[in-house]
Amino acid sequence: MTEKTTDRVRMTGISKRYGPILSLSDVSLRIAPGEVLGLVGDNGAGKSTLSKVLSGAVVPDAGTIEIDEETVRFETPADARAAHVEMVYQDLSLCDTIDVAGNLFLGREPVRRVAGVSLLDKRRMHDDAKAMLERLGIVIADTRQKVENLSGGQRQSIAIGRAASFDPKVLIMDEPTAALAVAEVEAVLELIRTVSARGVSVILITHRLQDLFLVCDRIQVMYEGRSVAERKISETSIEEVVDLIVGRKFTARSAARGDRQEGVSA
Ligand SMILES: Nc1ncnc2c1ncn2[C@@H]1O[C@H](COP(=O)(O)OP(=O)(O)OP(=O)(O)O)[C@@H](O)[C@H]1O
Ligand SMILES: [Mg+2]
Repeated sequence: MTEKTTDRVRMTGISKRYGPILSLSDVSLRIAPGEVLGLVGDNGAGKSTLSKVLSGAVVPDAGTIEIDEETVRFETPADARAAHVEMVYQDLSLCDTIDVAGNLFLGREPVRRVAGVSLLDKRRMHDDAKAMLERLGIVIADTRQKVENLSGGQRQSIAIGRAASFDPKVLIMDEPTAALAVAEVEAVLELIRTVSARGVSVILITHRLQDLFLVCDRIQVMYEGRSVAERKISETSIEEVVDLIVGRKFTARSAARGDRQEGVSA
């Protein structure tokens, strides 16, 4: 990542209210091309809501979004996809009864014309699926396997592979490793490295703080709907991140160490 590049995404002053709950209050976020940003915060801090605003699934009450310095307005996920923003949701949204290749190409299956009739070009679909998975270093023995028979980690890889195949500039992942075994977590983290090395900006939402230190360049901390701190990963520690996540009122541990209390301002 070069230092001088302009921001790929710039979200400014984003607010969203659900009845009495202010889910997001004047939140800003920026990310550079190829950067991996960890978005962290306690349950209900607003991480998913903020990422859904960027993926077009939630329309904010206020604020602006710029992609490559152009202001955009997303009213649906299709709008965001058209601007090359993809999100992998925690529930994965794969179709269990369809095979791996079918899931990768769902809604845009290759067809061939035979005597004027469009037929699903199965061979091409499986060949393309294999190539797509290989490019991302995803190991799935057979693209004809039904997705319901895959492990959690393989399913997560397919969901990420599908998102990556839309040629995203920005890839948002909400808790991609939450339900995975250790080796599967490694595979997903490696996939994040592969994708970001190609210039894709990745926003990683996770409660697994150790993962942040393995793949992220920077973290942004949310607290009760506000963005409260930002750190380069090389300039922070798990202890500090924990303190930032739980907020000022619980920082007795740092106080006991004699650290200067700078609170949670960035
Ligand atoms: N559709 C909705 N309707 C009403 N309230 C909502 C809605 N979506 C989110 N909220 C509220 O907004 C706040 C932020 O929620 P959000 O899901 O963004 O948090 P989060 O940081 O992703 O938390 P978690 O780590 O638990 O996933 C919460 O208080 C939540 O209850
Ligand atoms: Mg969430």
